[in-house]
Amino acid sequence: MGSRISRRGCRVAVRRLRYAESYVRARLFGTDGITMSPLNHTAIVLGVTGGIAAFKSASVASLLVQAGSRVDVVMTESAQRFIQPLTFSAITHTPVHTNAFAPWTDEHSGHVSLARNADLLIVAPATAAAIARLALGLADDLLGLIALSTEAPIIVAPAMEDRMFNHPSVRDHLVTLAERGVIVVGPDHGRLASGAIGDGRMASPEAIVEAAATQLRRSSQLHGRKVVVTAGGTQEPLDPVRYIGNRSSGMMGYALAAAAMSAGATVTLISGPTTLRPPCGAEFVEVTTAVEMHREVERATFGADILIMAAAVADFRPETRSERKLKKQVDQEFMDVRLVRNPDILASIDRPDLLKIGFAAETEDLLANAKRKLEAKHLAIIVANDAELTIGASSSTATILTSEGDVTALPPMTKSSLAAKVIDVATTMLNRADRRP
Ligand code: C5P
Repeated sequence: MGSRISRRGCRVAVRRLRYAESYVRARLFGTDGITMSPLNHTAIVLGVTGGIAAFKSASVASLLVQAGSRVDVVMTESAQRFIQPLTFSAITHTPVHTNAFAPWTDEHSGHVSLARNADLLIVAPATAAAIARLALGLADDLLGLIALSTEAPIIVAPAMEDRMFNHPSVRDHLVTLAERGVIVVGPDHGRLASGAIGDGRMASPEAIVEAAATQLRRSSQLHGRKVVVTAGGTQEPLDPVRYIGNRSSGMMGYALAAAAMSAGATVTLISGPTTLRPPCGAEFVEVTTAVEMHREVERATFGADILIMAAAVADFRPETRSERKLKKQVDQEFMDVRLVRNPDILASIDRPDLLKIGFAAETEDLLANAKRKLEAKHLAIIVANDAELTIGASSSTATILTSEGDVTALPPMTKSSLAAKVIDVATTMLNRADRRP
């Protein structure tokens, strides 16, 4: 016998569904309706690739259209085996693009106009093959051409079998895409098309559209603003082959540069030696010593709105640098190195409209020390974290303190998520300062 649902149970379920729907609509469209949505009047290219989750992309298209976006759907050949282009053209009221060789017209110049006009490219579902093609930059179909020629942010929603999703090849390609600033939404854990339970279920259409709204809101946050970020540790030479350095990986600064880029800012990243790839589109300046970093920060902060000093700058440097490699003597037990003070870059930069953000990596009295630095260096924001747990790690547990007296203790999170939070706080303070008479 099948399970019975009471009438009351049904009413409760319907009410809950309506509540969930109105909650999602309020988040996507704003409580005042469509005009409040960051998606309203935007041009979105929705790339649909060939997985069974392609049927759910019809809901993605529908939610985007309801939020006021113009949606151009681009389907790969295999996607068309799972769902008809007609479904999408009926939902979007726009012809679906399936052919990289369609004739060019005055209004439509193939991938060029689609790529140029897009505010956002969403690839949902993104199959393992699509992820690999995007990561490798293959331009053998219309979607690949658009992905390479657009400057718009890209969101991918992976969908595949869990063993495929957990394959190192897929993982590596997703890391490559994330490093380039692509936003990866999902996949979720749950029931897969095969009937198995695992990772690989495409994120819900609501989650994908919400990520799109968040990204579009974010991409205009720092539009027209100039942000200077420092990253990595400095190296202070003793001789041609030795230096005094520290274990900073540069990850936090690079994540901040990427977050500022995706918030629409013009970014200069001034970095000590690291093994990381700088985010595409940022001005990248490589330095070695604190003195070099000081000079570059002085130069770059001219006309800048925000300076974020995430670099681990050496407080002292060897007084002299030997021209030749230092040699030990046979019976030498000690070596004296005299160190001299490096400039405090953050404290010394003093521009009236520059919002300064510092980092306090401490091993003791974290908050008290951070607060002292916030005041002493005239900072708007200081991000305090435990030096031993943070340096070299990919995640961080930080507290954000502001000159306005706010103290926000954050849960453990990736450095990318922390970077997005710091950019959010900085934007709020910048906008508040603009409104001040
Ligand atoms: O005083 P402390 O080195 O702990 O301050 C940390 C903050 O100051 C960081 O944001 C760091 O990048 C910056 N700093 C600097 N110049 C130095 C030392 C630190 O800008 N010489």
